Amino acid sequence: MNDPQQHRTIDDVCSQPAVQEAKSLGLASPIYPSSVYHCSTTDEADALLAGTLAGYIYGREGHPNASALARRCAELHGCDEAQVCGSGMAAIGLALLAEVSAGDHVVISDQLYGRTTQLVSLQLARLGVTSTAVDATDPTAVAAALRENTRVVLVETISNPLLRVVDVRSLAELAHARGAVLVVDNTLACPAVCRPADFGADIVVESLTKLVNGHSDVLLGVVCTNTESPAGCQRWSRIKSLAAIWGFTASPFECWLAHRGSSTLALRADRSCDNAGTVARWLDARRTDSASGISEVIYPGLATHADHAVAQAQFTRHAGYVVTFTLSGGRASVDRFIAAGSGIPFCPSFGDLTTTLSHPESTSHRGYSPAEREALGIAPGMIRLSVGIESPDTIVARLAEALAAAR
Ligand SMILES: Cc1ncc(COP(=O)(O)O)c(C=O)c1O
Repeated sequence: MNDPQQHRTIDDVCSQPAVQEAKSLGLASPIYPSSVYHCSTTDEADALLAGTLAGYIYGREGHPNASALARRCAELHGCDEAQVCGSGMAAIGLALLAEVSAGDHVVISDQLYGRTTQLVSLQLARLGVTSTAVDATDPTAVAAALRENTRVVLVETISNPLLRVVDVRSLAELAHARGAVLVVDNTLACPAVCRPADFGADIVVESLTKLVNGHSDVLLGVVCTNTESPAGCQRWSRIKSLAAIWGFTASPFECWLAHRGSSTLALRADRSCDNAGTVARWLDARRTDSASGISEVIYPGLATHADHAVAQAQFTRHAGYVVTFTLSGGRASVDRFIAAGSGIPFCPSFGDLTTTLSHPESTSHRGYSPAEREALGIAPGMIRLSVGIESPDTIVARLAEALAAAR
């Protein structure tokens, strides 16, 4: 272990104070709400705006709270650089804008977050960028979709709500062989479960709104990348300047909150993922009993999951904190489950301290027709659980109560 910085655990990264000189300033990090900073000389202003001098001049270009959060995210992902953005969607938009121009082509997973699909198929299309959606868990399908002008392959580590897991290393090799870059949205995983850059992803994007912040009180995103190659340096420079030009920057207070929230990421991820495994096994054990009303349980940590082997090869000891299951009684059963008010709130997001549920048919996938949802495998009775940090006994008791009401 020559360089201790190379071997920092997720706990080490998360427990680092934001400000190194914290001893003189207080252990908690300060918030810098200023939108503008003093310049000592005209040359200094010039250099700060050109990016040749480190420091701050105007909040949209950067500020100390964004830098602290970006540093932490880069370290969590084992990347050289990170740019914090005002939301996960802003981060995805920034990553794509940094890579594509009119006339280019993008290959996307056919199971992306709905807004991401719209961003590519509607917004990039308006700008002259074409796209092809494929099953990204099938490298052959991805290879077949790559074209001469393909610049980006965009996938999610774990898809929502079906929790399909892509083989990042295979996709990176395929993309690189054709001169394209691999962009991975790691939101459903988070760096405690998977670090896609370790497997060859060129850009990792994440919504920090979810488990990384973990308290459902900010919207933020991040773009992480490496600069060891000349192409990587150029990419980073495009990301930095586009963030300032398009105004993707995040506010100091939100960055401060997310930095504070992420300090406990390692603990929360351990607990939530362990609980998710317990919940998945508990639900799965009841699936074979038709009286339980459970027809399907999806969790990458279960041996029955379609991508269990990929998940085992690519994930840390965790298989994520999201568990999806289906009630055979359909949407009416879901409404009874929700109405049971068992302490599992219906909040269509994920990554909170508390276990929450979402109903894909009425939220994330309401824009699809019933036939499209059926083709995707999204049933009316499907529930997606984001498992929190409560005691496992409490979560299971709440599930049992809601399931009894749903029957
Ligand atoms: C997989 C995934 N990526 C990106 C986003 C967008 O993140 P945000 O809501 O922070 O813009 C979401 C939001 O739910 C998501 O589920």
